[in-house]
Amino acid sequence: MEEMKKGLEGVVALDTKISFIDGIQGILKYRGINIEDLADLSYDAVSYLLINGKIPDETELSEYSQELKKNRRINGKQIEVLKEFDFGIEALDGLRTAISCTAHFDNENNHHTPDANKNKSIRLVAKFPTIVAALHRSGHGEPIIEPDSELSHAANFLFMLKGKIPTKLETEAMEKDLILSAEHELNPSTFSLRIAASTLSDMYSAIICGLCTLKGPLHGGARKGVMDMLDEVGSQENARDYIVQKLERKEKIMGFGHRVYKTYDPRAMIYKDVARRLAIEKADCSWFDMAEEIEHILYHEFIELRGKPIYPNVDFYSAVVYKYLEIPAELATSIFAMGRVSGWIAHCMEQYSDNRVIRPRAHSV
Ligand SMILES: CC(C)(COP(=O)(O)OP(=O)(O)OC[C@H]1O[C@@H](n2cnc3c(N)ncnc32)[C@H](O)[C@@H]1OP(=O)(O)O)[C@@H](O)C(=O)NCCC(=O)NCCS
Repeated sequence: MEEMKKGLEGVVALDTKISFIDGIQGILKYRGINIEDLADLSYDAVSYLLINGKIPDETELSEYSQELKKNRRINGKQIEVLKEFDFGIEALDGLRTAISCTAHFDNENNHHTPDANKNKSIRLVAKFPTIVAALHRSGHGEPIIEPDSELSHAANFLFMLKGKIPTKLETEAMEKDLILSAEHELNPSTFSLRIAASTLSDMYSAIICGLCTLKGPLHGGARKGVMDMLDEVGSQENARDYIVQKLERKEKIMGFGHRVYKTYDPRAMIYKDVARRLAIEKADCSWFDMAEEIEHILYHEFIELRGKPIYPNVDFYSAVVYKYLEIPAELATSIFAMGRVSGWIAHCMEQYSDNRVIRPRAHSV
């Protein structure tokens, strides 16, 4: 039998046209286009690109955006169910159950035709933000806010969450966050989802597999971990002692290191720039300065300890952006999922289009 690779490191499991990563040079492309060029588009355009394989022209984008807007609402019965949830602070548990509940209200749930899958993909992308905002507000005893079809995907989410229209830069930050979170090749949640899809299970079930895998602190849960860490550090001055002590205890620092990137994660660069601009707009550099200090300390500590630096991954400066957007830490993983759902759908469809059940072997020891 083949040699076992712990954590499947370096194992190539399938071919994909959806994204490309060069972890040595720090390159990420969705459908052949560099992430730096995609970050200035709308989430609707990037979501269309991932799911349909091409950048939409003006008419296609306008029709797609209209479809998303029409499908943002969740029905009254579903709202009643959401109000019954009592999941404490693990917002992702609520989201997972709510998506399962959405499947029950979708009469195409178990239809597997390409058209049915396309319809479900629009409903999923459109409803994720509504569900995340509704769960948060109802969990805090606040009235649920209806979607506003005048607002973009990102602005509408912030509006449904907080009840006020975001500024231009806040909207841009949220839009970029969803784009940068949308896709990342065969990461753990996408792999788990492709396994589910390879058994020809339905799209909702596959997405729920993705959600369950995203939850873990070594994957999507790291963003919440970074937000909690920033609170614990508290100030730029405390950063060195905090980091050095954590390294001495051999604890992982959330938001650093990556299985594939051995250099700066290109998404982290874009987030860092957005975080810096938000710090200036809000006249409060404290979170940004603290984060930059942590980055510098870790870079040099790793050179000393291991002879090579460690770099921030996607979760580090995104957590700083969330701090400036005043997003509660418990929502970080659910918001990550709101962006990632487009990539998940694209992978689900790619798996269905050329399927062989994914079933590796294990060495018996
Ligand atoms: C992302 C991650 C899971 C990659 O894991 P991996 O490819 O298995 O990398 P390894 O854990 O083998 O890392 C190699 C070494 O660097 C250390 N290391 C890696 N990331 C570290 C971090 N964030 N903080 C401290 N040490 C770290 C590991 O402890 C390991 O040390 P060892 O050789 O003494 O065991 C890992 O870097 C991590 O746990 N990061 C923190 C969580 C996080 O931010 N996740 C989001 C990923 S996008």
